[in-house]
Amino acid sequence: MKTVLITGGTGLIGRQLSKLLSVKGYAVSIFTTSGRSSDGFKCFRWDPSSGTMDAQAVAEADYIIHLAGANIGEKRWSQDRKRAIVDSRVKSGELLFQAFLKNPGRLKAFVTASATGYYGAVTSQKIFTEDDAPESDFLGETCRRWEETAGLFENAGIRTVKIRTGIVLDKTDGALARLLVPMRLHVGSALGSGSQFMPWIHLNDICGIYLKAIEDVAMKGAYNAVAPQHTTNLEFTAAVAKTSGRTLWFPNVPAFVLKAIFGEMSAIILEGSRVSADKIMKAGFNFEFPELNPALENLLNEKQKA
Ligand SMILES: NC(=O)c1ccc[n+]([C@@H]2O[C@H](COP(=O)([O-])OP(=O)(O)OC[C@H]3O[C@@H](n4cnc5c(N)ncnc54)[C@H](OP(=O)(O)O)[C@@H]3O)[C@@H](O)[C@H]2O)c1
Repeated sequence: MKTVLITGGTGLIGRQLSKLLSVKGYAVSIFTTSGRSSDGFKCFRWDPSSGTMDAQAVAEADYIIHLAGANIGEKRWSQDRKRAIVDSRVKSGELLFQAFLKNPGRLKAFVTASATGYYGAVTSQKIFTEDDAPESDFLGETCRRWEETAGLFENAGIRTVKIRTGIVLDKTDGALARLLVPMRLHVGSALGSGSQFMPWIHLNDICGIYLKAIEDVAMKGAYNAVAPQHTTNLEFTAAVAKTSGRTLWFPNVPAFVLKAIFGEMSAIILEGSRVSADKIMKAGFNFEFPELNPALENLLNEKQKA
C-alpha cells in the first residue's frame, strides 16, 4: 500500500482528500501543527516556524501533498500576518525537503498547492494560462515563492506538480460558507463592481485533481485547478441566492467599505481574472462539476436532502 503524506491535512481540502485517498486504497498520514482531529488518519506533529518535525513522516511517504499554510483570507494582512502566510508555505516546504534529503529513496512525487493568486489580484478579460508570469503583488509573489519550494524537489529528480487552485466551493467551510451567512439573513449582495471574476472549483473536483496528480506520471509542472466556466462575482452571488431560495435585495457592497474593513486583503474579493482550465482538461481530467449551477445545487440542496 502506497503512503500519501498530506501537510495541512486537517483543513478544508485535506479532510476531503484524505477520505478520497483512503477509499482509493492509499495509506494517508498527516502533518499537523495543532494536532486537530483528522478522522483517525495517522498524525505526525511539526512546527515549521521553529523548524521542528517528525522526519519519520517523510521517510515513510511515497507521495507528499503540501497543503499547509496560514489561511490567506482569515485575518487582515498585517506585516506579521503576511510573513506567516509566506513562511508557513515556504519554510515548511524547505523543511520537507531537508527531511527528504535524509531519506531520498522512497518519494515518487511532490505535489504542492498554489493559488490562482499567482496571476495577481487583477480584473481583466484576459484568460490566464500556466505560461503566464507571476504578478508582483503580495499574492503573486507568495505563490511564486511557494512554487519555488517544489523546485527544490524537481531539481532533485522528483516529479513535481503545482496546483494553482481557485476558490474551493464547499458548504461547511471556505468562501461559499462565508457567503451563505448574509445570504440566509437576506442581506447578501455582490461585492464592489461585481464584475471581477471568481475562478472557482467544487471540492470534489479539487480532490480529484490531487488524486490525478499523484497517479498520472505524465503530470508535471503547474496546472490551474478551476472550473472551465468563467463567472463574475455578480453572477456567482446571484446563482448562490437563487439556489438557496433567496432574493438579492441590496445594492453591491461598495469597494471602499470592503477596503476599510479588510484593508489590503480586500483585493482578493474585489479583483479577479479569468483563468484557463484547458491544460488540466487536456491532461485528461473530467470535471464532475464544470458549471456553477449544478455545483451549487449539489452543495446547497442535494447534501441537505441526504
Ligand atoms: N480553499 C481554497 O479556496 C483555496 C484556494 C486557493 C488555494 N488554496 C490553498 O490550498 C491549501 C489548502 O487549502 P485549505 O482550504 O484546505 O486550507 P485550510 O482549510 O486553511 O487548511 C490549511 C491547513 O494548514 C495548516 N496550517 C495553518 N497554519 C499553519 C502554519 N502557520 N504552519 C503550518 N501549517 C499551518 C492547518 O493544519 P494544522 O492546524 O493541522 O496544522 C490547516 O488545517 C492552502 O495552502 C490554501 O492556501 C486553497
